[in-house]
Amino acid sequence: MRCFFTHPLPAPAAEMLAHVPNLELVTHREGADILVCLLTDRIDAAAMDAVGPSLRLIANYAVGFDNIDLAAAKERGILVTNTPAEEVSVAVAEHTVALILAVARHLVASDAFTRQGEYHGWDPFLFVGPSLQGKTLGIIGAGAIGSHVARAMHAGFGMHILYTSPHANSDLEASGDARKCELPELLATADVVSVHVPLTPETTHLISAKELARMKPSAILINTARGKIVDETALVQALQQKTLAGAGLDVYECEPLIDCNPNDTLELRQFSNVVLTPHTASATVEARAAMSRELAKNILAFIEGNEPPHIVKS
Ligand code: GLV
Ligand code: GLV
Repeated sequence: MRCFFTHPLPAPAAEMLAHVPNLELVTHREGADILVCLLTDRIDAAAMDAVGPSLRLIANYAVGFDNIDLAAAKERGILVTNTPAEEVSVAVAEHTVALILAVARHLVASDAFTRQGEYHGWDPFLFVGPSLQGKTLGIIGAGAIGSHVARAMHAGFGMHILYTSPHANSDLEASGDARKCELPELLATADVVSVHVPLTPETTHLISAKELARMKPSAILINTARGKIVDETALVQALQQKTLAGAGLDVYECEPLIDCNPNDTLELRQFSNVVLTPHTASATVEARAAMSRELAKNILAFIEGNEPPHIVKS
C-alpha cells in the first residue's frame, strides 16, 4: 500500500511505519492508498479525486476533522481516522487555563507595558483584574477537553462549574460542583465561558450576537475549539461596545487570517483585553507525539486489515 504524507510529522509515526511489509511511503499523492493530512488540508471531493480511486484511508493528524468532507469520503468508500489521546486533551485544557488566566490578569498587555519601559512604580490601579476564586466557569461541551478544564479550574481556583452537554457527565459531577444546564443559563451566569464542542453545522456560529448579549459585561470568552463556532464580527462588536470584558482565542473564523476582512477596522487585534494564540493549544511535546503515535496505530491496523482505533463516523 502506498501512503502519502502532506507534511512531515513529529516522531514516532515515521519510525512505527518504517519497515512495515506492504507499506511504501510515496512522494506523490496520485495513486496513494493512504493520505495522511493536517487540519489545514481541506480534503473535499476534488482533493479525494486528485488522489484517485486507489484512496482507501484518510488519516488526519488532528482530533478535529471538520477539514474533511465525510459525506464525500463515505460515497467513495474511504475510511477517515483522527488522533484523539489523553495527552491532547490535557494539552488543550492546559492552554485553555493559560488563556483564562492571561485574559483575567491582563498578562500580555502587562508584558508589553513592562518591556516598553512604561513601568514607573507600583500603582494600586495598575492592571487590576478579577479573581477567579468562587466565580463560575461555563463549559460549552463537557467532553474530554471541557472536563479537564472544569476539573483544573475547580480544583486549582475554586471555580463553580456549569456545563452544557447532550448527556449528563457523571464523572465531572462527581469530581466537584459541576451542574448541567441549558446554554442561555450558562451564558447569563458564567464569569468565564469556554467553548469545547467540535465544529459541525449545528455548532457553526453557536456563539453569535444573541448569545454574546446574554453574557455579563464582566465575563470573558475563551475559544480553543474551532473559530467558526464563534461569530467573530459579533464578538468584535461586543468587545467594542464593552458588553464583554475580554476574550482568549486560539482559533479564528477565517484562519489563518486573524480577521476575515483584512481591510476592516473592526478587527480583533485592536483590543488589549484580547489574547490571541496561533492555534497552538495542542502544542505540547507530549500531545504532538501522542497524535503521531495514534496516527501510526490507525495506519498499521488498516494495513493489517483490522479496524483502526479512531475511525471518524459520518
Ligand atoms: C487541533 O485543533 C486538532 O483538532 O487536533
Ligand atoms: C504588593 O506587592 C503588596 O505588597 O501589596
